[in-house]
Amino acid sequence: MMLRCFRAKKTSMDADRDLEELTTMVASLRRHLQRMERAGIRNLSIARDADGKAPEPSQASWLRGVEGGLFSDHAEACRATSLEELRAAIGDCRRCKLWPGRTHLVFGVGNPQAHVMFIGEGPGRDEDLQGEPFVGRAGQLLTDIIVKGMGLGREDVYIANVVKCRPPENRNPEPDEVEACEPFLLRQIELISPRVIVALGKFAVQTLLKTKAPITRLRGVWHEFNGIKIMPTFHPAYLLRNPGDKKLVWQDIKKVIEELRTPVT
Ligand code: URA
Repeated sequence: MMLRCFRAKKTSMDADRDLEELTTMVASLRRHLQRMERAGIRNLSIARDADGKAPEPSQASWLRGVEGGLFSDHAEACRATSLEELRAAIGDCRRCKLWPGRTHLVFGVGNPQAHVMFIGEGPGRDEDLQGEPFVGRAGQLLTDIIVKGMGLGREDVYIANVVKCRPPENRNPEPDEVEACEPFLLRQIELISPRVIVALGKFAVQTLLKTKAPITRLRGVWHEFNGIKIMPTFHPAYLLRNPGDKKLVWQDIKKVIEELRTPVT
């Protein structure tokens, strides 16, 4: 009898707590939906395949950490099944403080099935104006590396940045800006699934590998990023200031060419 009374009392306390939790969840959901609306996402839909089945969310273990759930600002983007869907899910992004200064969000360009992906830091002035990564002076140098050095076209590779909006005065992106954009880059990499990533400069490689090691120590040797080979090298903008180091970049790019020529086992 005692036990039953105790149980009954506990159940009513549980109900109070459940109600409190539910109220908190509803408030949290409301805030999340308002954020999505501000980010330009006005409809929530569950995409279905031809058989009417909803696709599985990503199984990649490294994405699970950033995938978030119902309350994440990135959930829809992380479930995108194509680059077009990913771009649409990013929308008129206002997830960090860079959006008021941008002309264009610079998503990325190139072959969605590229074997090699170049990742820079963030758009500069020319990229912001044109909406395409690496189109300014540093971009011309990168294009030379791709075309003259590797014998490929820009349309054969994929080019993207860690952050998709231009930081003011070309300053380094700040940690909260990287955090807001990182799930998009990770999904972009997962969708492209390149054989090789060339990380351009200290910022890209340090972000991807979560290290503070200097680019001088990281460059020129293979690293691994979630099962993908990554070759860090100097940023083309650095090469404009230090043309003497172009030979080092060429050494790094030769390793990339060799890797791409190696048959996949
Ligand atoms: N520098 C970068 O890191 N990215 C660009 O798109 C242009 C310059």
